[in-house]
Amino acid sequence: MIILNDIGKEYIQGKTNVIVLNKLCLHVNYDENVGIIGPSGSGKSTLLNLIGLLEQPSSGNIKICNVDFNDLKEEEKVIFRKENIGFIFQNNQLLEDFNVEENVALPLLMNGNSFRKSISKANDYLNLLGISDRNKFKPGLLSGGEQQRVAIARALIKNPKILLADEPTGSLDHQNTKIVFNSIRKLSKENKIITVFATHNLNLVKLLDKCFLMEGGKLIDFKNK
Ligand SMILES: Nc1ncnc2c1ncn2[C@@H]1O[C@H](COP(=O)(O)OP(=O)(O)OP(=O)(O)O)[C@@H](O)[C@H]1O
Ligand SMILES: [Mg+2]
Repeated sequence: MIILNDIGKEYIQGKTNVIVLNKLCLHVNYDENVGIIGPSGSGKSTLLNLIGLLEQPSSGNIKICNVDFNDLKEEEKVIFRKENIGFIFQNNQLLEDFNVEENVALPLLMNGNSFRKSISKANDYLNLLGISDRNKFKPGLLSGGEQQRVAIARALIKNPKILLADEPTGSLDHQNTKIVFNSIRKLSKENKIITVFATHNLNLVKLLDKCFLMEGGKLIDFKNK
């Protein structure tokens, strides 16, 4: 479960104080998926970065699966993130020095699993996502949609409790958007992974359990409007 209470986030740039999030609240139950839309600069990525422990709120309180982030030391945050959080970014951030199966296996290798076991599990996920025949390719040789499916496999391989997807279909055509979105939705539902999905695509968010519009630093329920 994700509980965000009165989250504030401001950035100070020289003499300018930018308030991005302002007393933002959000409750997400286990196995729910949530969509967040909002104009560019409204704070969607900032919110995902806070939930993903990549940034710290200026005020307020974040609890995930009964763990209060305010209680975690820096090194505990790193471990929590590694064990519980999967990230999919708009520009996938695959590593070109490694082939597809190695990219997907990386989170398991970093958590201390054997190479053989990690590669084998990576191939299970590639198979699930319909790209097992590209397992030895370098990421740069794949299409945008294929690259995003590799990024999904990499985010899901450690079976995270939370999946954060920051415009994962932003650079894709209609067909690939559908494939990538449906893959994320299906796999997160099957594995009971809470998914938070930031996107500009209105048609996608309507298919999710909850959807919110980011406005004035807060989330406004969008589905029931
Ligand atoms: N490190 C930072 N320092 C200063 N300002 C920042 C920083 N990171 C983000 N911001 C500001 O916070 C605001 C929200 O940015 P954010 O990336 O969360 O928006 P977004 O909703 O994800 O936009 P987009 O749809 O374009 O991805 C922007 O005005 C941005 O300039
Ligand atoms: Mg963004």
